[in-house]
Amino acid sequence: MPSFNPGLVLRYLLSAVSYYPRTTVALFTGGTADKIDKAIGSHFKNSFSSLEKADISAIESIRKTLLRSPEVISVTEFGRGSNILPKTASTEKISDICSIMSKTESECHFLYSLIKTIKPTHCMELGTCLGISTAYIGMALRHNGHGTLTSFEGSPERAKIATQNIKELGLENNVSLVQGKFQDVLPEYLQKTTGLDFAFIDGHHQEEATLHYFKMILPKFVKGGIIIFDDIFWSTGMNRAWKTIKTHPNVTDSFVFKGMGIIQLEGVRD
Ligand SMILES: C[S@@+](CC[C@H](N)C(=O)[O-])C[C@H]1O[C@@H](n2cnc3c(N)ncnc32)[C@H](O)[C@@H]1O
Repeated sequence: MPSFNPGLVLRYLLSAVSYYPRTTVALFTGGTADKIDKAIGSHFKNSFSSLEKADISAIESIRKTLLRSPEVISVTEFGRGSNILPKTASTEKISDICSIMSKTESECHFLYSLIKTIKPTHCMELGTCLGISTAYIGMALRHNGHGTLTSFEGSPERAKIATQNIKELGLENNVSLVQGKFQDVLPEYLQKTTGLDFAFIDGHHQEEATLHYFKMILPKFVKGGIIIFDDIFWSTGMNRAWKTIKTHPNVTDSFVFKGMGIIQLEGVRD
């Protein structure tokens, strides 16, 4: 969702110039051209099996519980936080975090369809929050029959809730949560990681930070890997970061879908 900045709103609207032709082709052909098109095609087909429907509805029922929760937790914010939640408060309502920060059901269906389509082995996520997008990615990996997700969250209290949610969904074999500031915990993880084929970057939405994380994870990616950057219309800085990323020499394809910038990588090149 773009901030209320006329330039950004215009760029958001202009992204529709490629959105409609490409999603229409993907919809009618089932997306035969490449991974991104295939994922979009399968998202629009939206043909979930009864097992998938039941598991997705288990995640959505957790979302409903969070949205109704009267509980408050203490704030630990490392990124720029939300444009909506107050920046000086020492506590935050779980229901507010869920309604403002968690990806919507439709966006999560897209993440789910993408993971079902690309069948990744090693996935990472920056920004677990309460674990909603994490649960969708983890559930798709479970349904694929292979693949793991490592998801990072700075706030100890949000990470605790996400851990409970992942446990409740029985996704512990597919999902590991790492609590800590990305800047502190990511280097150690990347040191022992190779063969990444999917990343969802949904936290610390600042231009330099986004570019920094991109440069850090890029050498760990396999050919054909997919990275999604959320909120690329959130600020002019995020939009500039997106422009730099999509024109990087290792990027073979890019697309904007539901406010997320999606890239496909050529693979590691020194
Ligand atoms: C938009 S929320 C993630 C939402 C989640 N992906 C979902 O859709 O359910 C971003 C999260 O990233 C975390 N975060 C932001 N910057 C961070 C940093 N530098 N280190 C650790 N966590 C950070 C925030 O605490 C927040 O919970």
